[in-house]
Amino acid sequence: MAPSPALEQRVAAHIKALGEAQLLRTLCPPGGIDLSSNDYLGLARHPLLQDGMIRAVRRDGCGSTGSRLLRGQRDGFARLERAFAVFKRTGAALYFSSGYLANIAVLTTFPEAGDVILSDERNHASLIDGIRLSSARRLIFPHNDAGALTCLLEEQRGTGQAFVVTESLFSMDGDLAPLADYASVCRSMGAALIVDEAHAVGVYGASGSGLIEGTGIEDEVFVSVNTAGKALGVSGAFAAGSSWAIDYLIQRARPFVYSTAPPPAVVGALEASLSIVASEPDRRARLERLSARLRARLIDAGLPVPPGTSHLIPVMLGDNERAVGVALALQAQGFDVRAIRPPSVAPGTARLRIAVNAGLTDEIVDRFATALTDAVAGSHEAHHGGHGGHGGSSWDE
Ligand SMILES: Cc1ncc(COP(=O)(O)O)c(C=O)c1O
Repeated sequence: MAPSPALEQRVAAHIKALGEAQLLRTLCPPGGIDLSSNDYLGLARHPLLQDGMIRAVRRDGCGSTGSRLLRGQRDGFARLERAFAVFKRTGAALYFSSGYLANIAVLTTFPEAGDVILSDERNHASLIDGIRLSSARRLIFPHNDAGALTCLLEEQRGTGQAFVVTESLFSMDGDLAPLADYASVCRSMGAALIVDEAHAVGVYGASGSGLIEGTGIEDEVFVSVNTAGKALGVSGAFAAGSSWAIDYLIQRARPFVYSTAPPPAVVGALEASLSIVASEPDRRARLERLSARLRARLIDAGLPVPPGTSHLIPVMLGDNERAVGVALALQAQGFDVRAIRPPSVAPGTARLRIAVNAGLTDEIVDRFATALTDAVAGSHEAHHGGHGGHGGSSWDE
């Protein structure tokens, strides 16, 4: 039976409200110079990744044909996971078809009823969803506030296992979590630290394995989630941790057990990617240099860029319409920049999220900084509202 017309009307009303709030999304393929993708090292189109994947398709076919626990298992997955564990310096790693699913898996497998999860207020939706699906209680701590986290952990002492959940590099704010402080408080309180390295893997650390390595706390993290669709240039994600934890995920993580294994050919591309990250540290160095250059240009021009050092540079515009207007003005000049609006960020904090990548040049960075400065100035004349700055706390919880 067809659903009642009331359902379609309800959906139409929601869509209308989104349109009125300048929150309607459209699906736009890439166009122009990339200043918004997560291909930070420029690996997504690298010939060695392409060759690796094509060879693997010819050898292994397209589909994996089943769950890893059934006929979907391949020697290649096991080899790739061993290589990732060596790269990340953990006992083991497990490959999932996306970072979203890896986060759901970790957060629904380990925390149990009676436990507590402490989550940074700006954590990504996949972490929030995993926490919501878990049986543990959740507590939200203020963004990057190790002091507040310590107080909360003290209050929770003796009430089951505590898990602390954070991103290492925050995707929408471009700032770094105080991982060393978190590691120390977790150690003293017996809490398990879970770190989402989505935007840091491939970028930070002497060997490029992420901010956990960059901070020197490899032995103090319970499990990390490392997406393979961003700096690593392919797709999927590795959960990495001690062998006993990863073995348990294989037994119990529902997104792993009850889902068809990814196409085996991702292994060919990811092996090439890991080998490039290991052998070409210049890509990371170049990304760091270009990011510092763009940040300096934007700050000198007086743009509302919060403090930070990373390749993710938010330009805080506050108003949804203004953020969309500036993005469109830049797109018209050939720069692929996207506006980020609620619910991806807190209401009143719409922004441009500029993502630097190693394929840019000094000349492009300078040209883009000028275009962005002009576009923001133009939008200021059109809007007299000023920028929203960082605001909101548990808006997404
Ligand atoms: C912090 C963070 N974690 C997890 C994910 C999800 O990863 P994936 O895109 O592989 O599903 C993202 C993706 O945007 C992210 O930004």
